[in-house]
Amino acid sequence: MSKTDPLAGLTEAQLASHWMAFTGNRDFKKEPRIVVSAQGNYYQSADGRQIFDALSGLWCSGLGHGHPAIVKAVQQQIEQLDYSPAFQFGHPKAFQLSEKITEFMPEGFNRVFYTGSGSESADTSLKIARAYWRKKGLSSKTKLIGRARGYHGVNFGGISVGGIGGNRACFGEAVVADHLPHTMLPENRFVKGMPETGAYLADELLELIALHDASNIAAVIVEPLAGSAGVIPPPTGYLKRLRKICDEHDILLIFDEVITAFGRMGANTGSDEFGVVPDIINIAKQLTNGAIPMGAVVVKQHIYDTFMDAGGPEYAVELPHGHTYSAHPVACAAGLATLNILQKENVINGVKSIAPAFEQSLHQLKGLQYINDIRNYGLAGALTIEAAPAEPFLRPYLIAMQMWQKGFYVRYGGDTIQLGLPFTVTEEEINLLINALGETIKALD
Ligand SMILES: Cc1ncc(COP(=O)(O)O)c(C=O)c1O
Repeated sequence: MSKTDPLAGLTEAQLASHWMAFTGNRDFKKEPRIVVSAQGNYYQSADGRQIFDALSGLWCSGLGHGHPAIVKAVQQQIEQLDYSPAFQFGHPKAFQLSEKITEFMPEGFNRVFYTGSGSESADTSLKIARAYWRKKGLSSKTKLIGRARGYHGVNFGGISVGGIGGNRACFGEAVVADHLPHTMLPENRFVKGMPETGAYLADELLELIALHDASNIAAVIVEPLAGSAGVIPPPTGYLKRLRKICDEHDILLIFDEVITAFGRMGANTGSDEFGVVPDIINIAKQLTNGAIPMGAVVVKQHIYDTFMDAGGPEYAVELPHGHTYSAHPVACAAGLATLNILQKENVINGVKSIAPAFEQSLHQLKGLQYINDIRNYGLAGALTIEAAPAEPFLRPYLIAMQMWQKGFYVRYGGDTIQLGLPFTVTEEEINLLINALGETIKALD
């Protein structure tokens, strides 16, 4: 392979053989965008260019790529113990990591169930919620409530409570669920950070309770800040109101923190940042800095105890659920290294310090053609792009492709452009990125 071979030496047959995830395969294969290596905040493309990673991978590599401490931890672990059975046996790092995770969680979250991804965390949390009520003798509490524009991964539970239509439309009947309305109000367009208006939308839960009855509802699941739908920060007071209604009606509140946990909000969790404590927290992504797939569901002790108390004989399995790769030793090693770096290098405070510069720079794009909204919180930001006639998602795609050509990776999803900057981003990098984005949007037809 020559250093500037855009195909990295791949044959047509090799390219054709890979059915790529969440990708326009036909388009990609006409003009592949191949990444061959990465270091810090930059990818190296097969055609020999440096590409700034403005989404931290897929919201997962906040510490940048190839962090030496994570690389070393993974190398050592794979040599020492590459795999050990997830069921009926344990290995030390699984327990060390679960304790370390609890240091990042709100007080009282002290039991960790491992999964392999954010999607598995979503379905695991929904199953735990249903089983919890059954163990308590309330087996009619099964209904799950999500939110319009919510994203909880791609498994059947997750797409049922999820609220992005395109992710559900072709898959038929899934799990019975209902949805709260989303919180993107027209009057909140171009608001920096959390909008003031919209807490009242939480009261829609009362309508759903009136419709289904709380005796039939297991849980409400929301992202504290909706990420994949295009960075939708919660209106002030909204999450508190959801919490209060859930408390008053004995409904579990699940926060899907797959994007928001471990620093992106400038805090350990969205729960911490927004001052609302759920019953269950889902995590993944930043847990291992994206180096090895891993997720987890973290619960308060009373939930865990409910399963133990109703578990029958001690040798019996209390929760018949888990994955071959739950608590994978190499993922645990990557997770421990990642969380240690976040703590020792005080990275999350760094996110909080640089976030205002990002906010200021991003909102300078207001007024450019086709930008219908700008939203941000911490090191997450998004633009809503006005639909081209009959082609609602064309412009974000064109913007992302042109940004790639200019040396910046940004995500396009639906009618949005999404940014999830690396935690070590500099003001200079922010300004270069936003300038390039502005120039690209100005140049659109
Ligand atoms: C809030 C949330 N939940 C779940 C997921 C799914 O995670 P994964 O792609 O690891 O399955 C994502 C991914 O973006 C997410 O943002």
